[in-house]
Amino acid sequence: MHNVVLISGDGIGPEITSAVQQILTAAGAPVNWIPARAGMGAYKELGNPLPEETVRLIDEHKVALKGPLETPVGGGFRSINVTLRQQFNLFSNIRPAKSLPGIHSPFTHVDMVIFRENTQGLYIGQERWVGSGETHAESIAVVTRKASENILHAAFQYAQKHGFKKVAAVHKANILKLSTGLFLKIAREIAPQYPDIQFRDVIVDNMAMQMVMRPEQFDVVVTTNLFGDILSDLASGLVGGLGLTGSANIGPEHAMFEAVHGSAPDIAGQRKANPTAMLFSALMMLEHLGEKETADRIRRAVMEVLKDLPEACTPDIGGKGDTFTYADAICLKL
Ligand code: NAI
Ligand code: MG
Repeated sequence: MHNVVLISGDGIGPEITSAVQQILTAAGAPVNWIPARAGMGAYKELGNPLPEETVRLIDEHKVALKGPLETPVGGGFRSINVTLRQQFNLFSNIRPAKSLPGIHSPFTHVDMVIFRENTQGLYIGQERWVGSGETHAESIAVVTRKASENILHAAFQYAQKHGFKKVAAVHKANILKLSTGLFLKIAREIAPQYPDIQFRDVIVDNMAMQMVMRPEQFDVVVTTNLFGDILSDLASGLVGGLGLTGSANIGPEHAMFEAVHGSAPDIAGQRKANPTAMLFSALMMLEHLGEKETADRIRRAVMEVLKDLPEACTPDIGGKGDTFTYADAICLKL
């Protein structure tokens, strides 16, 4: 049995988490869930969006599956997602986007994995007002050699291990010459250490256009925090939407798995949320725990439902069902 800390999260979090638990139970996945609180719900009920007990449990058990957490826009508390990623040095944010059978999309051959540096860039929380009157704001971006080497090696090694032929480093070193310039310089230094992998670098604005025009050209994409955040939502859109893409946050000792999407307040509590993104995150977790066979079995069941039982699926992918008819259909296939 693997102990896994489970944070069901805000908005659609509890619905998709419960669907995922149901599917993993049906598959006989050897997971012992340890519930913990975080996010807006925890803030409202306990007065703290990240209770110490939650941090302690993740530290002790090393692996967490996390639902989306609502972060107040503008003021309020700092993003708990960002805090957790920094606290446990979860420097690799791995976000695969792969075309799926039966999903309507202009693209059918997308198979890319975005590696997003997860602890630095513009997300370090160093923002301030200059002068009085809140008329001048500054945000600082940090890029270090160490963190860049970590994420770049992780991306190249992932490409080798998973049979991908190409790595693209995405940057804006023409304008942000120091911060993303350093990232690009290190990418160019490291690339020759992986002679079996084709390397190229792409400026982020061109990258956005290339991904929308010809996404099949990309395998592994590695980039800094903000660009990775934005491009991974774009990549989700290429394969049918945010309901379909999972992610892993991996550090030297700890790992946290979560969907790419947020708490989707517009559909929360309506059983409309697609649990696939959260489920795919849980499958990445099972692989991380050495339970690849179970993960593969669940993935096959999902593919069969998407192909054979589209009506059982959620509305975002054209289905007539809901979160739980879809989960039931996957359990039945299992
Ligand atoms: P969002 O990802 O929650 O929603 C964007 C759009 O995608 C919405 O129309 C939503 O209904 C749809 N969508 C998202 N997940 C879906 C699913 N599983 N099935 C069907 N449709 C789905 O992004 P938004 O609205 O910008 O952010 C809402 C909140 O989530 C904010 O408080 C934000 O800070 C937070 N957030 C949290 C993340 C995390 O916990 N890792 C990541 C991104 C946002
Ligand atoms: Mg995001």
